[in-house]
Parts: sequence; structure tokens; C-alpha cells
Amino acid sequence: MTVDRSTTKQNGHDGTVKPGGVDLQVEPELTTRTYVLMPWNKRGKKGASEHRRTPEARLEEAIGLAAAIHLDIVTAEIVTLHTPRPATLFGSGKVEEFADRLKHDEIELVIVDGQLTPGQQRNLERAWKTKVLDRTGLILEIFGERARTREGRLQVELAHLSYQKSRLVRSWTHLERQRGGVGFLGGPGETQIESDRRALQEKINRLEKDIAKVKRTRELHRKTRRATPYPVVALVGYTNAGKSTLFNRITKADVFAENLLFATLDPTMRAVTLPSGRKIILSDTVGFISDLPTHLVASFRATLEEVLEAEIVLHVRDAAHDETDAQKEDVIDVLKTLGLDVESEKDTQFIEVLNKADLLDAEAAEALVEQVKLKETGRVISALTGKGIEGLLNYLDELLSANSRTFNLTLEPRDSQARAWLHSHGDVSSDVVDDEGKMSLEVSMTAADAGRFEKLYPDIFQTTFANYAGAPQ
Ligand code: GTP
Repeated sequence: MTVDRSTTKQNGHDGTVKPGGVDLQVEPELTTRTYVLMPWNKRGKKGASEHRRTPEARLEEAIGLAAAIHLDIVTAEIVTLHTPRPATLFGSGKVEEFADRLKHDEIELVIVDGQLTPGQQRNLERAWKTKVLDRTGLILEIFGERARTREGRLQVELAHLSYQKSRLVRSWTHLERQRGGVGFLGGPGETQIESDRRALQEKINRLEKDIAKVKRTRELHRKTRRATPYPVVALVGYTNAGKSTLFNRITKADVFAENLLFATLDPTMRAVTLPSGRKIILSDTVGFISDLPTHLVASFRATLEEVLEAEIVLHVRDAAHDETDAQKEDVIDVLKTLGLDVESEKDTQFIEVLNKADLLDAEAAEALVEQVKLKETGRVISALTGKGIEGLLNYLDELLSANSRTFNLTLEPRDSQARAWLHSHGDVSSDVVDDEGKMSLEVSMTAADAGRFEKLYPDIFQTTFANYAGAPQ
């Protein structure tokens, strides 16, 4: 199958700058002339996640990924493999055929949507006289462009260097780049490859130190964040499901969004006021991709930190996509590798948000609503038109207040800060101060807020809550 570029949809990677306070529509300049080739081995292992979807759907996804970094995709096609060749993956006939076509189309880059060994990559680059990137290389490029936190960026750079190092080791075995003479860093007789490897290793060591430092700072940030904020609601979902559109819609609709307060922490987090007046922090994340190479999980994880702390995870799904079920499985798989098991997780609630309902016909949309009603754990919406958003926000309100309990507690005169905290987070029904300045409060709050209170004021929690029958677990 060949996809003509002129009819290829852009998959939403239209240069919209991710939420960060400013809304810019930038029309990016398409740069490198690119072929996207998807090797398809009919006899590949069944059951592997790459066989959950059709080759056409995989190709469509690969085009979306390539478009995400603004490549000028001239042709995209599925290349059937009968027997994968160890040296070049594709058979020699195919390699030659592409060599001619690539030259004719003045192609600078070929993306092979699969894994290439370093040898295959080198041999194809030589035969085709173009740069060749495999799926890992492509995903690294995307993560590199999208990593928003400092740790995310460092993790991506680290993964990039490790990837480069492994390619270097096995690809440059010959001695033609032998570096002779005295005065060079590496010393006489050392090969270029060895000094390149050493330089890379030094960079890797430096990066690892930087990451450790950033992690410590992040831990501090996280503590301050816990001290201020409200329950975190995180958006996750397959790439292109509509997370950012939903994020923008919810945060824009909220005139009270305290952008400044959190802007310094992370541009993808916003405080949002729900219809009841309750505040939450809404957090957007980078999109999930199938077959995430395992050594990229760390860099991906760094962009998903908020998900691990979220009280509610909204799984945004493109309900109108043919492969919506396969995408759901992929997202659940990735969450599992991050240590979040959707089925057994107790601290986090997972809610399915079935998006793009406007693209479904009335009957299909109705069926979806019925299905969701039965499961009682989701909502059908359109982030684009706004349909169902209000219902979704009310639902969040409901979920967050569902486990509220009433607590009676006594505070010492010195505990005025704790008292203010209770007033801003809970629903205080009585607050009486006696002659000695002691305060007796009756307050209703969620188990999660009670947990937060415990972290902030462990002493008060111990003396007041611990003996209380209704104390949170
Ligand atoms: P990644 O950044 O790749 O993870 O994507 P995302 O999940 O943030 O998706 P995004 O919000 O960028 O939306 C992807 C495309 O889907 C864009 O072209 C949106 O305009 C479109 N889209 C989002 N929500 C809807 C919807 O409810 N209906 C329709 N028709 N299109 C939508």
C-alpha cells in the first residue's frame, strides 16, 4: 500500500503548540524529504502488540509520528517481507528498487517503522545514500522535541546517547579511522571508535549525575506541591486521542484557572475549579505510542510523573478510531510497565473518556453512551464541540466528594495554619474557639484530603485523627 502525501491526513500534528499558557497556531515548515517504509512480515509472531492492528493502521500511525516532527513525507508504504535478511532486512531486489526511487525523488531520510540492527541501518544507509532512522530513532526524535520537563529532556538525551553508543560499537569495526600520531586526546594507536565511545560514555556519566540532581530537586518540588494543591486529575491516552484539546477546553472554560501559580512548576498543569467550587489540578501528558522500546520507558516515565500521583486518571480515547480497542490495550500495557495496574489499583480511579463522539453517527454515539452507562466508569464527550464536558466535570465533582467523611477535631491555638488549610480544602460545618483559644472543628473532607492533611500536619493528625473511629485508612 502506498499513501500519497497529498491525501494523507496530518493526524492532528498540525503544529499546534502544546498548552503552556499561550495558544499559537504555527504552520511549521516541512523540511526533510522523507520516505516512510513499514516492513510487514506476515509470518511474524502472533499476539505481539504489533499484530493487534492492521498494517494500514500501523502505517497511518507511523505517518502521524513522522509528521509530528515536521518531516516532508513524500511516500509512505508497506513493504512485505517474506524472509527478513540479516544484512539489510529487505531483500536485495527491494533494496535496489528503493535505491533508484530514492535517488529519483531526492529523498534525504528513510524511516523504517520497525527495529533495525546497527548493521542493517549502516548497510541501508550505504545502499541508499540517505540517512535511515528506525522506530526507536524516530520516537527518540519525538520525545526530544516534546520533553517538557528538565528531567524529561535529560532522560531523552541519555536514551539517545545509549542508542548512539550501541550503534557505534558494532558499526565501526574497521580500522580505517585509526588515529595515529601523538598529541591527540586518545593517545597513539587509539582508534576513533574508542575515543568516540569514551567521549559518549563521559557524556552519559555526566547526564546520569545531572538526572540524579534533578530528581532530588523534583522530590522537593513535589513536596511543596503536595503542601499547596488540590487533587490531581491526569489525562492519559494514545497519541492523537484529543488530550490537549480536552485540556485546553477545560482550562479555558475556567476563568479562575490559576495559571500563574503552577506555571513555574510545569506548563502542562493547571488549577481548575469544578462546578461545585472544588479545585483540582489538571495535568496533561505526552501521548502513548505502541511498542515503546523498553529503554525509552525511563524517559517516558519522567513525563508521566503526575499520573503516578493522580487521584483520578482520565483515559482519553478516540472513540471514532477503527483501532480504538487496540489503542486502549496499548495504553493499559504502558501504564502497567510504569507500575499502575488499571484493574487492581486502589488509590487511583480510572475513568474512560470516549472522545470525538461528534465523528460518530447518532446511532453509534447512542450505543456508546448506553455501553458507558452500563459500566458506570466513563463519559462520552467531544472535546472539539464541547459536548459532554460539563457532564464530565460534574462527574469529577461527584467522584471526588463520594468518599467524603465528617471529622471532629480539636486544634491548639498555635495551629491556625492547619485551621486555614481545613477551611480551604474541606467543608467546615462548625468552628468554635474556647476561652483558651482551642478550636473545635467539624469538617467534612475526602479521604485523599485527609491523607494530605496527615502528611502536612502529622502531629495534629496523630493526636486527633488516630483515635477517631472514622479516621482514613
Ligand atoms: P498527542 O499530543 O499526540 O498525544 O495528541 P493529543 O491526544 O493531545 O491529541 P490532540 O488534542 O492534539 O488532538 C488530535 C487531533 O484530534 C486534533 O486534530 C484535534 O483537533 C482532533 N480532536 C480532538 N478532539 C476531537 C473531537 O472531540 N472531535 C474531533 N472531530 N476531533 C478532535
